[in-house]
Amino acid sequence: MFKLEEILRPNIRNAKPYSSARDEYKGKEGIFLDANENPFGSVGGHKYNRYPDPLQWKLKDKIAPLKKVKAEQVFLGNGSDEPIDLLIRALCNPGKDAIMITPPTYGMYEVSAAINDVRIVDVPLTTDYVLDVQAMLPKLTAEVKIVFLCSPNNPTGNLLPEDQIITILQHAKGLVVVDEAYIDFAPESSLLRILKNYPNLVILQTFSKAWGLAALRLGMAFASEEIVAVLNKIKPPYNINAVTQQLAYEAIGQIMKKEQMVAGILMERAYLEEELAKLPVILKVYPSDANFILVKTKNGTGMYSYLIEQKIITRDRSKVMLCDNSVRITVGTHEENEALINALKKYN
Ligand SMILES: Cc1ncc(COP(=O)(O)O)c(C=O)c1O
Repeated sequence: MFKLEEILRPNIRNAKPYSSARDEYKGKEGIFLDANENPFGSVGGHKYNRYPDPLQWKLKDKIAPLKKVKAEQVFLGNGSDEPIDLLIRALCNPGKDAIMITPPTYGMYEVSAAINDVRIVDVPLTTDYVLDVQAMLPKLTAEVKIVFLCSPNNPTGNLLPEDQIITILQHAKGLVVVDEAYIDFAPESSLLRILKNYPNLVILQTFSKAWGLAALRLGMAFASEEIVAVLNKIKPPYNINAVTQQLAYEAIGQIMKKEQMVAGILMERAYLEEELAKLPVILKVYPSDANFILVKTKNGTGMYSYLIEQKIITRDRSKVMLCDNSVRITVGTHEENEALINALKKYN
């Protein structure tokens, strides 16, 4: 039986959260002399003199029905990088506990663990970029407090098989975090629909990719109310600013625009996959469920540097485990993708 209480760090279990002025008085009417704000207004053209809602309820009430969860199951962070860090801090005792990662994968899990003096247990993906479940299972000890799985995976682009993720959920002693930053490009595969079955599952999503709001820094974590309550307890009080809350709220009101952009990106991805596969310099185009494509070339760093000379910036992943001579290409607009293909036609 999974018990969150038992895997939390003792200091986090016992911590008392900071109680802000907005936590203590929730009314909207009155003369507000409680938060040491400026009563006259703001410098600049806009009015931002009041602190924002620390728990962002108006925005969460908009997100919850979209994701078919309760508003209390939504945590909002300053990018999804914030819940990654908060989860590690909540569960992993520095110098003792560990997280499990499955390289090649998103780099922040390792960075956050290192900052928090938390050990990494890494079990590489197979050469087909799926989980090596047999190698993972014996390493799922009590000290491995969190397993981070990225699906669709960055930088390989593929979804991880759902049955494999479920096996890990069933055997992990702590939390399993499934990072779905790119799931809007493969929405039917989201594990949100099984969230209620697994009290140890946390799903991360973001406004940075399909919604086109990377600059606002807004990430989401979906989990049990109990896990979300812990994240709320340890987050900085006003972690999501008022502009971000308002603009994300407005964006959700225009969800069709997101769907149109996703459809455009998927069309362009198909175009790029087809054109890249024709080029002699490209040895392999990995299938993608995301808004980027990983390709294997004869010389990854050479191709990356050549493209830089053409003012086309991609990501050289040659030094990443299992990605030698590979370059990650984000899907651009049609003109941008054509420019890339034309440049590569001249390179060999
Ligand atoms: C897999 C993955 N997770 C999380 C993030 C971070 O997203 P955010 O902008 O929400 O912090 C990224 C960003 O590239 C990513 O690739």
